[in-house]
Amino acid sequence: MKKHNVMIAGGGSTFTPGIVLMLVENIDKFPIKKLKLYDNDEERQYPIAKACEIMLREKAPEIEFSYTVDPEEAFSDIDFVMAHIRVGKYEMRELDEKIPLKHGVVGQETCGPGGIAYGLRSIGPVIEMIDYMEKYSPNAWMLNYSNPASIVAEACRRIKPNSKVINICDMPIGIHSRIKEILGFKSDKDFDVMYYGLNHFGWWKEIRDKAGKDLMPQIINHVKEFGYIVPELYEEKPNDNRETWRFQNSWMDTMVKARDVQALDPQTLPNTYLKYYLYPDYEVEHSNPDYTRANEVMDSREKMVFETANKIIEKNSFDGADFETCGHATFIVDLARAIAFNTKERMLLIVQNNGSISNIDDDVMVEIPCLVGPNGPEPLNVGPIPTFQKGLIVQQASVEKLVVDAWQEHSYIKAWQALSLSQIVPSAKKAKDILDDLIEANKDYWPPLN
Ligand code: NAD
Ligand code: G6P
Ligand code: MN
Repeated sequence: MKKHNVMIAGGGSTFTPGIVLMLVENIDKFPIKKLKLYDNDEERQYPIAKACEIMLREKAPEIEFSYTVDPEEAFSDIDFVMAHIRVGKYEMRELDEKIPLKHGVVGQETCGPGGIAYGLRSIGPVIEMIDYMEKYSPNAWMLNYSNPASIVAEACRRIKPNSKVINICDMPIGIHSRIKEILGFKSDKDFDVMYYGLNHFGWWKEIRDKAGKDLMPQIINHVKEFGYIVPELYEEKPNDNRETWRFQNSWMDTMVKARDVQALDPQTLPNTYLKYYLYPDYEVEHSNPDYTRANEVMDSREKMVFETANKIIEKNSFDGADFETCGHATFIVDLARAIAFNTKERMLLIVQNNGSISNIDDDVMVEIPCLVGPNGPEPLNVGPIPTFQKGLIVQQASVEKLVVDAWQEHSYIKAWQALSLSQIVPSAKKAKDILDDLIEANKDYWPPLN
């Protein structure tokens, strides 16, 4: 079996250890020759990189491991870049969430004004990474988790139309894990789905078992009552168990709130992120403007990952340490395997519509099922979608296009239009007030808007 060279960009990410561990666990199915970490923040990357080095020395010494902040070293001689950079880090995520909330508007990492702010920060550095990849390893693929994925994907479509980049999201597979629990199935690979929409903005229209049996009625009945949670499974779970770093407090509320989102269209199952667009008033009422998800993450996942890394370094051994792998890591490794070994796995990816959803424009970046092989994704046909979903998607896709316009044209008006058009923002006045605060906060990251 061919061995591949993999580079993880955003080496200092809280998700890096999980991906490295998942690569180790899959070494028989996806053999690796070289594994590199790359970040532009040497200090942040160091503990994660050092802990991974110790782990690999014990678990997979055959892998040649290295880490660097030098783009040439990082991007040379690689087959895959697994990218998950957070431009501006948690410090800026906190502002993305808190600035809109100060104006009484939902503050969220990828949705509404916060997502727009993050998008205007992410486009440049993600495109720069693609340039590095094409310069130093022109045959490589970039599998990109860097958020906000929908805006980043639209920028890639326009600026890098022929590049080997696949933008991805783990939310659908995260919900598949919950659906697996609802159904009492062993694996989320025991069912096939038909899903459509934009990133963080989609619906399941079909879920069938491998024999073709329609599972939607059973799942919908459950979601109507409990959302995506099977209460018995979580009540007794100690707070330091698997899945809990990512699946706690506000995430629990989000999984339950899906019940109210689902009520709007009894035929389909919604992505949890739709709550921000459809119940923004509820979200604002239930947010603490002084302590948002960014704070929750800094106090939990970030703290635990770095504490674990530092313990490994102190002991100079991985023995007894616990880094978490989850669906997030499985998904990106399965995607790399599908490309490398033509597994033709069916996966939800963010791709150009090109007629897959027949009543949505060809040039919209949609999240739909694709079969994956060495030439990348082959999107499946979704067909026409109902008026409710179509209306929302056209509106949200236009917001995302306006954000990329604003970035490319340095246009204040396009940015203001993007915020005003967002379903989350109640008026053009609020949009302007929030935009002006965001411009100030993002002056080190955004292009100047005139
Ligand atoms: P994090 O802040 O822990 O890690 C991000 C890392 O990226 C940091 O170490 C930072 O220094 C580095 N970085 C920032 N700009 C960079 C640049 N220009 N070049 C190289 N490195 C750079 O963040 P996290 O919570 O672990 O999340 C990482 C990213 O993954 C975020 O964008 C997050 O939104 C995204 N994510 C996406 C999905 C998805 O569904 N698409 C799921 C989970 C996380
Ligand atoms: C899901 C989404 C990601 C998002 C993440 C936030 O996995 O698909 O796009 O970045 O949640 O999780 P966090 O735990 O950082 O709030
Ligand atoms: Mn996502």
